[in-house]
Parts: sequence; structure tokens; C-alpha cells
Amino acid sequence: MTVALLLAAGSGERLGADRPKAWVPVGGRPLFGWSLDAIARTESISQVVIAFPPGGPEPEVGVGAALRVEFVAGGASRSESVRLALAAAHDDELVLVHDAARPLVTPAIARAVIDAVADDPDVQAATAAAPVTDTIKRASAEHVVAETLQRGALWSIQTPQVFRREALDRALDAPAEVLAAATDDASLIEQNGGRVLVVPTTAENIKVTTALDLRLAELLLAGRRDDPA
Ligand code: CTP
Ligand code: MG
Repeated sequence: MTVALLLAAGSGERLGADRPKAWVPVGGRPLFGWSLDAIARTESISQVVIAFPPGGPEPEVGVGAALRVEFVAGGASRSESVRLALAAAHDDELVLVHDAARPLVTPAIARAVIDAVADDPDVQAATAAAPVTDTIKRASAEHVVAETLQRGALWSIQTPQVFRREALDRALDAPAEVLAAATDDASLIEQNGGRVLVVPTTAENIKVTTALDLRLAELLLAGRRDDPA
């Protein structure tokens, strides 16, 4: 079985709304409601722990009684929120970590990432990822191009990310500056020499960061309402 951590504790500074990003209404529900619904419909998820903004009131959500949903106050950084949510989770073999800022996740995406870890004992973690479609160049601070990277080997990393519980526990047991510098949790596993797989998804699994992303998510989710698979 798999416990899911839904990260919704960020303030959403770049979005600039009048409330924390995960609570901004999109298509008739708060942003986090979309991914909570997708995760709740994913087979073999036993519990969802939602990290909400520290200092805010504990939110109320109506979800099916079949699934345990807990709320915990998140931390000052994303990795701190992961750590606090994990501490409140019960002890399953696998942990799925998802950003509430990605409302277009589907049960099929979550299932594929879970299976990538569950099917191979040598794999410690797996992450949803989309093939990079732009040409990517590395340039100096003076904007002088140093190299053009080989696009075929590049992936744009998303969530969900799925971990073996003991590998995630070990990875999070790192100094605060290492955790703060990590832009995703899977990179902490790579740094420990762990085997991490990318699981191809579509670029539609966008992250809502800016007002433009929110508009795009609204349009894409409007098409989902009639076709929720
Ligand atoms: N997150 C979290 N706890 C934090 C910071 C972020 O749970 N202390 C979550 C966010 O709620 C979001 C995800 O991590 O679902 C990805 O973070 P990001 O898109 O950066 O969201 P925010 O931090 O809210 O946005 P911003 O950086 O613009 O303030
Ligand atoms: Mg942030």
C-alpha cells in the first residue's frame, strides 16, 4: 500500500492571489481539491496527508469515508513540509509525494509512478516527467552560450514522485542546507547513489506558478469535467 503526501502549504507568492495558492478556486473547487480527488481515486492509496499553510485554520474537506485524510501544518520550506507530512503518515512501504500546485494529475499518472517503484526492488524512487521539447542551452552570467545540451536525454521533472519509505526517511535525514537546496525530493535519493526512474507523462501535468498557469489550468480542467478519467 502507498501513503500520499499532498503538499499544499506554500503561500503562492508568484501567483499573488488573496489567499494561499492551494485554496484559490479553480473550476468550482480549491486548487488542491483536483489532485486530492485524483489521488483518492488511485488504487492502493491507503491514506492522504495534506500539508496546509502554517498559521492557517485547519481546512475541512468532504472526502469518501473509505480513505483516511489527515491535515498537518506545513513548514517554512517545501522539504520541511514533506518531513512534517511524512511524520504524520502511517507506515506503508511506499510514499507518494505530490504538489497540490499540479491539479491536472490523473489516477493513471499516479498509478504508473507507483508501479515503476513497486515492480522493481532495485528502484528507490520514480518521478513523473515530460520529455523536454525546447532546445536547452547552458550560458554564462554574461549570457554567452557555453553548450547546447543533448535534448534526447533531458526530462522536465514533475510530481507525483514515489519513494520506498526507508529511502525517503534516509534522504530527508540531511542537513537543513542540503534540503533547502534540493528542488525536488528525488534528487536527494540520487545524491545518496539511489536508483531513480523517470516515468513519461504529458506536459499537460503543469504546475500552477503564475497567473498565466492558473488560466491554462482552468481551461484544461474545464475539458476534464466531462471526461474525468
Ligand atoms: N509547498 C509546501 N510548503 C512550503 C512551500 C511549498 O507544501 N513551505 C508546496 C506548495 O503548496 C506547492 C508545492 O510545494 O503545492 C510546490 O511549490 P511552489 O509551486 O513553489 O508553491 P508556493 O511555494 O506556494 O509558490 P511560491 O514559490 O510562488 O510562493
Ligand atoms: Mg515555492
